[in-house]
Amino acid sequence: MKIIEVKNYQEMSLAAAQYIINMLKNTPKLTLGLATGGTPQGVYQHLIEDYKKNGTSYAQVTSFNLDEYIGLSKDDPNSYYRYMYENLFKHINISLQQTNIPSGINANLQTECDEYENKILQHGGIDLQLLGIGSNGHIGFNEPGTSFQSRTHVVDLTQSTREANARYFTSIEEVPTQAITMGIHSIFNSKEILLLASGKAKQDAMVKLLNGDVTESFPASILKQHPNATIIADEEALLGVK
Ligand code: F6R
Repeated sequence: MKIIEVKNYQEMSLAAAQYIINMLKNTPKLTLGLATGGTPQGVYQHLIEDYKKNGTSYAQVTSFNLDEYIGLSKDDPNSYYRYMYENLFKHINISLQQTNIPSGINANLQTECDEYENKILQHGGIDLQLLGIGSNGHIGFNEPGTSFQSRTHVVDLTQSTREANARYFTSIEEVPTQAITMGIHSIFNSKEILLLASGKAKQDAMVKLLNGDVTESFPASILKQHPNATIIADEEALLGVK
C-alpha cells in the first residue's frame, strides 16, 4: 500500500483530485467508485473547478457509489443520491443515467443488493474506488466484523457511525438505522483504490490500519492486501503511525 503524506485537508483534496483527473485524461471511459461524507467534499470541489477551468470531460464516465441509507428517497436532503447530485453531479457533464447509487427505498432490498452487485460486474468492475474511513475502520458501511467475502448487502449501522453522521441530521433519532453498502469483496475487486484520511478524528484508524494486522474486526485492513491501493493522508491523521 502506497502512502502519500500531505500537510492538511486542502492538500489532500487537491492531490486526490489531481490523481482522478490524471486517470481521466488517460482513460476517458473511466468507471469511478465514489464516496460521500465529509472527507471527499474538497476533492469534488476541485473536480468541479477543474471542469469549469479546463473542461475535463465526464461524458464517458460511469460511477458507482458505495452506499445509501435505507428509507431515504433520492429527494431526501440527507440521501447520498442528493449529496452526490449537489456536491458533484449537477456541476459536471456526467450523464445522470451513468451514475449509480443503490436505492434505499426498494421494497425488495435483497433484489436491490443483487442487482447492484451484478451491474458493477457486468460493467467490468470499478477502475478507481475513492474511499473515506470510519473511526472504527469501516469502509463503505461495512462495520467491524463484516466478512471480507461480503458483496453488496444490507447493514445495521453501529451507534458510533450513526453518531458520527448525526451532524447532517437535525437529531440522532433521524439518522437511519440501516444502509445498503457495497461489500468488502465488492470494494476490494476495484482495480485501484484511493483512501483519504484527514485530521485528528482519523488518527486511531490510521494507527490500526498501518500498524495493525489484517482482520475482519478492522475492515479497512484488507486494503493492505490490495495490489494497487494508495492512501493520501494528512500529517494530523498520520500522527502516531510508526
Ligand atoms: C461514505 C462512506 C463512509 C465514509 C466514512 C467516513 O460513502 O461510505 O465509509 O467514507 O464514514 O466519513 P467522513 O468522511 O464523513 O469522515
